[in-house]
Formats: sequence, C-alpha cells, structure tokens
Amino acid sequence: MTPSTPNIDDLQQATDDRVGFWAAQARDLLHWHRPFSDDRVLDWSDPPFARWFDDGELNVAYNCLDRHVDAGNGDRVALHWEGEPGDSRSFTYAELTAEVKKAANLLTALGVGQGDRVAIYLPMIPEAVISMLAVARLGAIHSVVFGGFSADSLRARIDDADARLVITADGGYRKGRFLPLKPTVDAAVEGETSVEHVLVVARTGAGDEGAAEPDGWVSGRDLWWHEEIAQVDAEHMAKPFPAENPLFILYTSGTTGKPKGILHTSGGYLTQVAFTHKNVFDLHPETDVYWSTADVGWITGHSYVVYGPLANGATQVIYEGTPDTPHPGRWWEIVEKHKVSILYTAPTAIRTFMKLGRHIPAGFDLSSLRLLGSVGEPINPEAWLWYRDVIGAGLTPVVDTWWQTETGAIMISALPGLTTLKPGSAQVPIPGVAVDVVDDRFRTTKASESGLLVITQPWPSMLRGIWGDPDRFVETYWSTFGPTTYFAGDGARYDDDGDIWLLGRVDDVMNVSGHRLSTAEIESALVSHPMVAEAAVVGATDETTGQAVVAFVIPRASHAEAAAADDAASLLRAHVAQQIGAIARPREVFIVTELPKTRSGKIMRRLLRDVAEGRDIGDTTTLADTVVMSAITDQARQGS
Ligand code: PRX
Repeated sequence: MTPSTPNIDDLQQATDDRVGFWAAQARDLLHWHRPFSDDRVLDWSDPPFARWFDDGELNVAYNCLDRHVDAGNGDRVALHWEGEPGDSRSFTYAELTAEVKKAANLLTALGVGQGDRVAIYLPMIPEAVISMLAVARLGAIHSVVFGGFSADSLRARIDDADARLVITADGGYRKGRFLPLKPTVDAAVEGETSVEHVLVVARTGAGDEGAAEPDGWVSGRDLWWHEEIAQVDAEHMAKPFPAENPLFILYTSGTTGKPKGILHTSGGYLTQVAFTHKNVFDLHPETDVYWSTADVGWITGHSYVVYGPLANGATQVIYEGTPDTPHPGRWWEIVEKHKVSILYTAPTAIRTFMKLGRHIPAGFDLSSLRLLGSVGEPINPEAWLWYRDVIGAGLTPVVDTWWQTETGAIMISALPGLTTLKPGSAQVPIPGVAVDVVDDRFRTTKASESGLLVITQPWPSMLRGIWGDPDRFVETYWSTFGPTTYFAGDGARYDDDGDIWLLGRVDDVMNVSGHRLSTAEIESALVSHPMVAEAAVVGATDETTGQAVVAFVIPRASHAEAAAADDAASLLRAHVAQQIGAIARPREVFIVTELPKTRSGKIMRRLLRDVAEGRDIGDTTTLADTVVMSAITDQARQGS
C-alpha cells in the first residue's frame, strides 16, 4: 500500500493533472470505507469553499491504527513516550489501537457523538494522542488547546466551539517542576458553560484509589480517566464518516484580538499530511524512528505527531518536557536512546543549542540521524549549517518546510533526492501544490524582488473555514486577490533558480519561537490592566526566538505613580502572561508618554520596531507630531 517516493515524472504529472495526482495519493495512502468517485475529487464550484473526495467515506482513526494491525504490523512500536522526570512508556500499534477503542467507548458513554466538540488541554503524554484519535474515531471534533494557555484563553476557545467535554490532566512536568492544569480548567469552566464533563488524566498518580479528591473537584462533572476507562468495553468498531466530516478546530492568532478557529476536515487533510510526511521526510516506516519535538497544542503536533506519522505506520518518539531538563543534553540523550533517524524541530531550538555549544550534542551518539527538518519560522543559514554539521554530522539533508495552521500540511519544502539543498531557502512547492510570489497588483515578481506569497490552486488539506465565521474566512484569506487565490500573510522572494525564500509576516502577526502571536491580542491584554491607557506592541528581531514581543505603554494619569515604580514593567509582563499565557509575555515593556501616530491616528509600528531593535529611527515624515519619537527613544533607553 505504500507508493514509491515521487520522481521527476510524478512532479510533472502533479503539475499537469493536480487533481488526478491527489486522487491517486488519496487512494494509495489511505483506506476508504467507501471510495470517492473520479468526478468528485474536487468541488471548487463555490470558491473559496472547497470540497475534496466529497462522496468518499473513511475513518481517520482506523487509518492511523486498526489498518496497520490488520496488515500485520500490530507489533510495531507506534509511540515511544518519554516523560520529563525520566518515566517512559511505549505502545505498539496493537496497544495504541486498544487504548483508543476504549477511549472511544468512554467518550460515547459521556454522550460524545459525530460533530460534537471536545476540548483537549493536556501535557505531552500518550493520552493526548489517544484522546485526539478517540474523538476522531467517533466523527467528533477536537479542539486542542496548548497547555501553556491561560484560563481566559481556554475559556474563550471552549465557548467559541461550545465544547461539551474537556479532557485534561492533574498536571504535567516542565522544567523539573510539576505544573498543575486542572485548576486552570476549573477557572475556565466556572459559571455558565457548555461543558458537561471534565475528564482528568492522573499524570502524577494523584487519583490513586483511596486518595482524597483534589481541591476544586466537582463530583458528577469531574471524572478520573483511569476510573472511567476501566469500566468500558474493549471492542469498538470504527464507523465510516464522509470525507468532509470536520476533524478538528485549532485556534490561531490573527490580526485582530480574537483568535480564529481554523477548521480542518478528514479525507483531504489526511491525504496531504500522509503524503508530505512520507515524502518530505523520505519515511521508511519499517526502519525509521521519527521524532517531531512539537507539542500537540500546535498544528505541527496535529499533522506531524498524530495524523501524518500514524497514518503512515511510523514509529515515533514523543517527549513531555523541556529540552534542557534535567540537563542540556536531554534531547540528544533521547535521540541516542531511541536511535532517532528523522528529527523535525524549530529554528528557535536550534539557535538555543548553538548558544549552548557543540560540546553538548557531541557527548551523545547521534549517528542514527539521517534527515533533519525545520519548521515554524525562517531558518537563517548559520542555524541551517550548524544543524547539518553538528547534529547531522555534515551528512544529513536538512529540509526547511513552510506551511501554516491554515494550510494543514507542508506546502513548500526541499525534497530529499530531488532538489539540491540550499541553506535558508524553503525552496519549492511540494508536488500538487501551486504557489506564486506576486506584487500587490498580482504580477509574478522577478528574482530577488520581495513580494507576497499566494497559493493559486486549492489543495486537499486546506482549511475549510473559520469556526462560526465564514465572512472572516473569506475576508482574511480570499479577498486580497479574489476568491480563488489564498493570501498567506507572508512575504517571500524568488532567487535566480526560482527557489522561494520566506521573509516573515507582512501583517500584524508576530512569530515568537515559531508560535504565532497577534499584536492586537497582546495590546488588548495590556489595556485591560487598570494602569494602562494605551498600548502598542511590536515583534522585534531576537537572536534566539526569531522575534520577541516588545510593548510600549502609556499609563493612565490616575496611575502615574504606579507606572513610575520600578516593578511596573514586570507587573505588566506578568499580567499579559496571566491573561493569554506565558508564551505571550513581552520581553520588554517600555512606559512612555506618547506613541507615534499618523495624522489619521494609526500607530506607526515600524518606528517602534526601530526603537525596540536599537536602530536609528526611519522616515518620520508621515507622523502627526515628529518630536514624539525622540521622547520615546529617550524613555526606552532609560527603561532598558
Ligand atoms: O510566517 C510563517 C511562519 O509561520 C507562520 C505559520 O504559523 P503557524 O500557523 O503557527 O504554523 C507554524 C507551523 C507550520 C507562517 O505564516 N513559518 C512557518 N514555517 C516557516 C515559516 N516561515 C519561514 N519558513 C518556514 N519554514
């Protein structure tokens, strides 16, 4: 059932007959309970609302589990899990299938059925993967919320999707400490809520027989996972669902303060994640050990921890904790222990390891590695070369993969064996995908000219909408150049070979350590503090995290004293972390008396970025008041 890796002829076929190419991949890579018809591969009659493999039926979880067992691969390890404190568990495909069957029966007993929304707020433990697959098995919709998000962020996501169940844990381990999660869920579901039950995994063993119920436990609403799962049937038949049945919602930051619930469906999504996982990483499921360091709370964790690798029957590693706990070589120790052959991570991590020095990875046997991947932000050539030389012994290919929560799967990447690698460039669209770099009048740019990245043809794993907001979907992605052209929000350029170089976001979205953050969302968190009258946030270049959040804040006159206190900036930094989550905590907060604005009142972030990055101020001619900038520069210098 495994098609061979694409060759040059396949690339030509993918260009000549894009739709036929994807139909062939969908048939080769997946099991369809009911095959789709040749004339229903793509319905693009009502753009930008696409339907792929419309009359086909499949079960996503069956594709990731049972069929591998049925094919005789039940004994192959699906997951090697490493907990941060040093505990570990492994699951074969047969064992993982058995766990998911039980979890599906449990969710059914709790009333979850096709189309229902289930919020998952878990650390990186096997139950995160099991929960996602159990939801998928029932044709229900998961909304995974990253464990670092605050109660307010979790509540907003639960409310937006009307989730009826939350799956969480008592907590997880990070940086050597136990981090409770259940109290955050308690705060998030306080008062009127759509949530009927909270299912709690006992990560710490707190739920042991006879142990007292933890604080905040609401009997009837709260249930221990291990107690409930012990009572359900072990058998569960995976029913087929339509290819366009929703699979998940994943919230991501946009240019406004409200996160967008990106909606993905089943057949097209699974086809493209399986295809890209297999071909971009040149996967050989019988022999490879694959490790993506992403958390399931992000799209990389959905597509390249759960769905892509498991659809392909891969053996993979998942790790709960931070890279430097309990020692800075933890990741390399894991690579050595499991003989990882394919590693997929983010440039931020690579740059952090570069700073620590090559002697740390040099202390471990990394000779099993044969392919390295990068995702989340542009990888600078120095980091690319270090990754290849120090981690890959100068031998492994490094594939830089460009994609987004919205694209669902990799869209632009080097293809091992087909393209000559180029440090710093994401290179070429994958087969079956059509992209371009255009100017603001939709003309293809010339080599070296900066332009906007667009996707010019529908693709199987494309987002199907923004949950509950079709207008915002059209407006955000499909209005800049018309309803059939997807505007990604990224700047890019071609080089002389026609390879693509990504240049970062062109909108008010920041990219911090490969995570998307919205300036508007952080600004609104800041102004929710009584001390703050007005706030402006920019993403400033940062050596390690790519960009860092830098905030400029005008205090209220009534709080001038508090704002002048030494701890004002750290108080506001903590306030943002508490409102949104630690990932949004600004690196710096500058208290200023004014912000640079145009005559029409728009904040000129470009100038604030100059200040934040310590540069001379650029062109200020459109400022309403040109002396403002010297005041801000002085205040920022004093503050730092
Ligand atoms: O700006 C691009 C950047 O990350 C954004 C997507 O963020 P998110 O939806 O959180 O998904 C991240 C993981 C796929 C993009 O708009 N980005 C992602 N990968 C790359 C990248 N920028 C440059 N090079 C990449 N390889």
